[in-house]
Amino acid sequence: MNGQSTPKQWGALWLDVNLATLAPIVPQSYGAIEDGALAVKDNRICWLGLRRDLPGETPTDIPIYRCDGRWITPGLIDCHTHLVYGGDRAREFELRLTGVSYEEIARQGGGILSTVNATREASEQALLDATQPRLKALMAEGTTTIEIKSGYGLDIDTEAKMLRVARSLGSTNPITVATTYLGAHAVPAEYAGRSDDYIEFVCSEALPTIAKQRLADVVDAFCENIGFSCSQTERVFQAAQALGLPIKLHAEQLSDLGGTQLAARYGALSADHLEYVSEEGVAAMATAGVVAVLLPGAFYFLRESRRPPINLFRKHRVPMAVATDSNPGSSPVCSLLLMLNMACTLFALTPEEALMGVTHNAARALGMSDSIGTLEVGKKADFVIWDIDHPAELAYRFGFNPCHQVIKDGLTV
Ligand code: NIG
Ligand code: FE
Repeated sequence: MNGQSTPKQWGALWLDVNLATLAPIVPQSYGAIEDGALAVKDNRICWLGLRRDLPGETPTDIPIYRCDGRWITPGLIDCHTHLVYGGDRAREFELRLTGVSYEEIARQGGGILSTVNATREASEQALLDATQPRLKALMAEGTTTIEIKSGYGLDIDTEAKMLRVARSLGSTNPITVATTYLGAHAVPAEYAGRSDDYIEFVCSEALPTIAKQRLADVVDAFCENIGFSCSQTERVFQAAQALGLPIKLHAEQLSDLGGTQLAARYGALSADHLEYVSEEGVAAMATAGVVAVLLPGAFYFLRESRRPPINLFRKHRVPMAVATDSNPGSSPVCSLLLMLNMACTLFALTPEEALMGVTHNAARALGMSDSIGTLEVGKKADFVIWDIDHPAELAYRFGFNPCHQVIKDGLTV
C-alpha cells in the first residue's frame, strides 16, 4: 500500500480483523485483506495491510481495538436520496394498489406535488424532526455519507429550507451530507401548463439564489414524460455549469427520452434509475465516465418489470452504484442493506458488485472518491465493523443488521 506511515505516527489501531477494502489495487475479491490491521491518525487511515506486515513494535500508548475476526468495510454511502420531506404518501400507495398508476396519480396533481404541499407547509424544525429518524435508521446500518436532494419545495424559500435542513443534519450527526438542488423535479401548481416558464425561473432565479447561499453541491433534474424534456433539462445543465456546479440526472426511469446521452454530453457525475436506457445511452455513459446509479427500491415499490440493463453496464464497463432513493412516493425505504439484497435478487448484481455500489462507486457518483469509498491510506477514516464471517453476508441477509460499530472521522460513533 502506498504512503504507509510508521507506528510512531499512529493514533489508534484495529487488529484481529478482516478488511474488505473495495480498493482496485487489492486484487482479491472485495479487495479483501484477511487477518489484517488498520491504523488511523486523526481522521485519516494511515496504515493498513496484513497483520504480519505490521512494521516494528506494536505501539503501547495508543488505543488498540481487537475485533475478534470481524470484517471492516468502508463506511456505506447512500448516493441518491430525497430524505427531507413533509407528510407521507400512504394513501397514494393504497390507490396504486387498486390499479391507478404512479404516472396517472402524478398527472392528476398528486404524487410529487402532494409532497410539495406538505413540505411547503412544514416548518424547518418540523422537517428536521421528521427526517432525523429516517437518517438515524440509515446511520445504524453503517451509512457515513449521504446525498440529500431538494425538489419538494419548487419555490425558492422551500427549496432553500429543505437544503438548510439537509446541511443541518450533517452538522448535528456523525454523517457527511452532500446536498443536491432538484428544482426541476416537477412543475409546481403556480406554473401549471407553463413548464418552460418554470424552467426559466429555475435557471435564472432559483438556482442562482441557492448557489449564492452555497446550499447545493450538485444540480439534478427529472428528465421524464411526467418531468422535464431533454431540452428543458439541458437548460438546467447549462445554468448549473455557468455557476460551476456539477450535475446528475434522473434518467430513463419510466421511458427512454435520451436523457442519459444528454447527461453524458454534459459530463454528469451520474445518471440514475436507467430502467429504459438504450445501449447507445450506456455507451455514452462509458465514454464520459458517468456512473449508473441503480435504485432497486423504486423498481420494487412501483412494481416495475423492466430492469436496468446490467449486462450492458458490465459490457461497457460503466461503474454501477446502488442507493435507496429514499422518498415518500416511489421508495419509502430507510435501509441501504436491503438495497444490497434487492440489487442482487432483483437486478442480478453479484454481492461484490452491490457492495462496490454502496462504497467505491457511490463515492464516484458523488465526485468524492478522492476521500471516501475504499479503505486506503490517505482516505477518511470512515468505516464499519461488521459481525459477519464473509462480506457476501451484507447482501445475503435482509431485515437484519449486523453492524457492530461505526467509525466516522476516526472516532467511534
Ligand atoms: O427518484 N423520479 C423522481 N423522483 C423520485 C420520486 C419522487 C416522488 O414520487 O416523490 C424518484 O423516484
Ligand atoms: Fe430519486
